[in-house]
Amino acid sequence: MATSHLRTEHDLKTVIHQWNREKLERYAISLTEAMNNSRRKLSELSALYETTHAWLQGLTLVEEIGQHLSATLNLNEVLELLLRRVSEALNVVDGSILFVEEPSGDLVFQTSLGSISEEVKPFRIPKGEGIAGEVAETGIPIRVDNAQEDSRHFKKIDQDTGFLTRSILCVPLRTREKTIGVMEVFNKRTGPFTDQDQLLLSSIANYAAIAIENARLHQSVLAEKDRVLKAQERVSRRLQRDLHDGPTQLVAALEMSIDFCQKALDKDPSLVRAELENMARITKKATHQMRTLLFELRPLVLETQGLVPALKSFVKRRQADDDKTTLHLVIRSDAPTGQITRLKSETESALFAIVQEAVNNALKHAHAENIYIKLTQRGNRLAVTILDDGLGFETKHIIKDYEQRGSYGMVNMKERAELAGGTLSLKSAPGAGTEIRVVVPINQP
Ligand SMILES: Nc1ncnc2c1ncn2[C@@H]1O[C@H](COP(=O)(O)OP(=O)(O)OP(=O)(O)O)[C@@H](O)[C@H]1O
Ligand SMILES: [Mg+2]
Repeated sequence: MATSHLRTEHDLKTVIHQWNREKLERYAISLTEAMNNSRRKLSELSALYETTHAWLQGLTLVEEIGQHLSATLNLNEVLELLLRRVSEALNVVDGSILFVEEPSGDLVFQTSLGSISEEVKPFRIPKGEGIAGEVAETGIPIRVDNAQEDSRHFKKIDQDTGFLTRSILCVPLRTREKTIGVMEVFNKRTGPFTDQDQLLLSSIANYAAIAIENARLHQSVLAEKDRVLKAQERVSRRLQRDLHDGPTQLVAALEMSIDFCQKALDKDPSLVRAELENMARITKKATHQMRTLLFELRPLVLETQGLVPALKSFVKRRQADDDKTTLHLVIRSDAPTGQITRLKSETESALFAIVQEAVNNALKHAHAENIYIKLTQRGNRLAVTILDDGLGFETKHIIKDYEQRGSYGMVNMKERAELAGGTLSLKSAPGAGTEIRVVVPINQP
């Protein structure tokens, strides 16, 4: 008999009269099962309700934050707002967002809310230490009800600031590839943190990670734009200076020679021949300088034939303009062909520009007798060294003075090397010459 047919006490009594004991027991068992099922369903439903509620709360927050995100790309503003809203929703006293700092892997405070928000900023949590460090390493959230009794808790901050951490909820900030930081809240006012709190914080953390990624992308685009503008400015300054010191002076000399010839034609025409020979020499020199300028602005041979032919051409041109310093190009390669392997065009351009700047520096500042440009290929690495035996300089002073001097030759070289996936080192000392060395990987197909 189905349980749904038993509506009243009278029904039940009738059944008891009619049924034997065995039937009655079976009935009791099925009734208990039905009750247990209902209880289970009820608790499933209530868990589902809590989950949905957390999501809904999360979505409302996210929607609100999303509006701010599209209105501002200021990362700190966004993170602060996010943390404030999360703290309200979770009813907590304090909260922080920490970023993983590369390459150390330590955690540093990015944004903090609460009574000690300013005091915690200088702290850094060493890689893998404390609850935050563990979350950053494993990418798995951690919930702690009694922080003081948890051996993982990083107690130094409490000790130094006088803050008493009781409960902690810490979740990772994950982008597609890796964990970039953690978001944590402390001391919930109304008891321990729940599954629902964890779900809410985790879903907010997902959006925070996207916001951080976007803002970082935006910042790197701005930095790249700034870099390009600076590079353009540098090129036009150099062009202006080279045009002024080179061809412009020669054309002015030609103008004077023409004037001289005009006068000499009337007074002493025999002087004209010698002056014309002088003018031919000046014209040849001016043509050479202008071609060098054009070559250095855009070395086509670099695009078509690669780094080594471009450097040969560069050395020949620079040598023709300078008879006090000797330029040497030394090429060594352990590749089976004995040649330097061709690299990506951006890498070759970067290396060419570095050699250009280093050689120009040596010619301009070093008063060297020799400048060596050495290309050494070993295994899958190419090292380019520019070495001079000139005056040398105190590297510390130069690096310190950059902001005021407004010349970025050295900084540019370093940036270019790093963009090409390489490293740049500089060695120099007064009286001991200068050595600049760039090492880039060779990625053979
Ligand atoms: N090979 C070198 N020998 C001696 N001093 C050098 C050498 N290379 C650089 N320096 C010193 O380092 C300084 C910084 O060089 P950097 O290339 O950054 O600037 P710059 O050459 O003065 O100006 P810019 O490159 O913007 O035209 C130079 O002014 C010079 O004092
Ligand atoms: Mg320079």
